[in-house]
Amino acid sequence: MFITELMKRRELTVRVRRGVRLTPADDAAAVDIAHGLSGAEFSNRIPVSLSLKRALVWLTAGDGDGDSGDGDSGDGGGDGDSDPGAAPLREFRDALTGGDSHFGLLQTVALVRSNILTLGIATPRGRALADIEFSHAGRNLPDLSAPAAWGDDAKLTLSRFAYLHRENDALLLSRPLKDKRLVLRDAFAGKLLIDLGRGMTVREARDACAGDGDDGDGDLFTGVTALIHFLYNEEFLVDAGDRDRLPTRLEEGDAAMQQWDFHDALSHAHSRLGYNFGFDFGGAFPFIDIIEPRPAVKESPAGERIALYKPDLQTMAATDKRLTEVVIQRMSVRAYNEDAPVSLQQLGEFFFRTGRVLFATDARVANVHDANRQTDMGMAWRPYPTGGASYELEFYLTVDRADGLDAGIYYYAPAAHELIKLSARNEFTEGLIETAFASCARIVRPQVVVHIAARFQRVSWKYHNIAYATVLRNTGVVYQTFYLHAVAMGLAGCGLGAGNSDLFCRATGCAAHIECSIGEFMLGSLPADFDYAAIDLEASAALHQAKLATSAR
Ligand SMILES: Cc1cc2nc3c(=O)[nH]c(=O)nc-3n(C[C@H](O)[C@H](O)[C@H](O)COP(=O)(O)O)c2cc1C
Repeated sequence: MFITELMKRRELTVRVRRGVRLTPADDAAAVDIAHGLSGAEFSNRIPVSLSLKRALVWLTAGDGDGDSGDGDSGDGGGDGDSDPGAAPLREFRDALTGGDSHFGLLQTVALVRSNILTLGIATPRGRALADIEFSHAGRNLPDLSAPAAWGDDAKLTLSRFAYLHRENDALLLSRPLKDKRLVLRDAFAGKLLIDLGRGMTVREARDACAGDGDDGDGDLFTGVTALIHFLYNEEFLVDAGDRDRLPTRLEEGDAAMQQWDFHDALSHAHSRLGYNFGFDFGGAFPFIDIIEPRPAVKESPAGERIALYKPDLQTMAATDKRLTEVVIQRMSVRAYNEDAPVSLQQLGEFFFRTGRVLFATDARVANVHDANRQTDMGMAWRPYPTGGASYELEFYLTVDRADGLDAGIYYYAPAAHELIKLSARNEFTEGLIETAFASCARIVRPQVVVHIAARFQRVSWKYHNIAYATVLRNTGVVYQTFYLHAVAMGLAGCGLGAGNSDLFCRATGCAAHIECSIGEFMLGSLPADFDYAAIDLEASAALHQAKLATSAR
């Protein structure tokens, strides 16, 4: 909707955003904006038209009821429900007086979109129901118009993507991939959400308002109707559909939206600029001086230490296949030489190539908002690239059968280049092997499963919003690194997608929120009759087609 239309609506209020202080400058056509929303105080001065400055003086001076004194100023009619910081948007428009008021109107829209002013939905008598906040990509002003062809008996329900969460002292209703979210300001709005979760018609909403003391003039229902229209137009509400076929999956929008899982949509939206809310994104080092960074090299766990073979780099460089060959020949191999399982020496060479610490150093890092908050962060470089040089990934090996290494679970210590035995074969290691076996459709029981685990704090100590996304990307990098070196060494490798993190934590003693498996890779010896060197471009295509035919059976 256009701002001029919104400004006619009785159910809209305007306030300064929570956490923001706005002070009209004494001597200039400008306002000073201050907020502490990132844990550091910010302030800046922005030029505004004289008409907007006048309206902002009005808004901030009267704590929302302004100085218009016309008796309809959002003071709730003396019933104690009014919102002290907010004023009716219609009166804000009236305060935008002067020759440049058109410019003031445009600037008002900009302040709303940039979350300095917040629009609220209220009853005509000023009972605040919810405030509307914008993401960074906030483009469209809220749409409060009644949906077409929509009767009192239309049954609505909450989108399965809608969720409640707390931020500071606000309870928020959000939905991934949307540019707006709501701050709930009234217990009735919360009750309404419970009813909408079950499915509710507009008629039932009217009855609920009456039951909540709507005293004949329908004041509450008028505000609630505006709220419901907003929620529907912004897809927080959907038509309650057929829940029998695929419960809670088919109500949402188009086929693409129906196929998203809630947590995937949430994680995707909040780890990308544009759909994110809040003022910080990316490498901000928010925890400097608050929480110590985790060491670059994990403290070695207790257990029997097994030294690993170190290949000679010069020889390797001289004898390895060329990159193009490795890339063309790379494929997932789900078959082994059972007479000669992968050996301890091969495992040593594999992790020397892929996972060892090359060198460790300290890097000076600083909080993005406060250069005085500085500290040293340990870094330990490994052979593969990693977001933020965090090197948060650790490797654990569950061994079922290997030459020279007992069955059990081991930690790969990357600086010492050795294995540390955490336990012999037990019910958990068996479970991990069995899970990998199931993941590859029981084609082959893995000789070794390499678990890629993340020490999350290495990344979340630095990043806002993108920590987990970075860990996933880094895990993908490791998969390809593992694949390529498996080909170079003549080993059978296969990435896996469905690992069991609970079993991993039980087997290793890791606490899931501190360090947890995030990916798995099967490793074994190559069958005697399998030769990567026989794979050229054409053979590669033929092999993949043959594999597909087998798996489609
Ligand atoms: C992230 C990732 C997860 C995978 N998950 C599995 C899996 O769970 N089971 C499996 O048998 N193969 C899995 N694979 C292997 C793929 O099926 C395989 O890479 C794909 O079919 C292409 O075949 P190719 O690797 O032989 O070229 C995975 C591969 C990757 C990169």
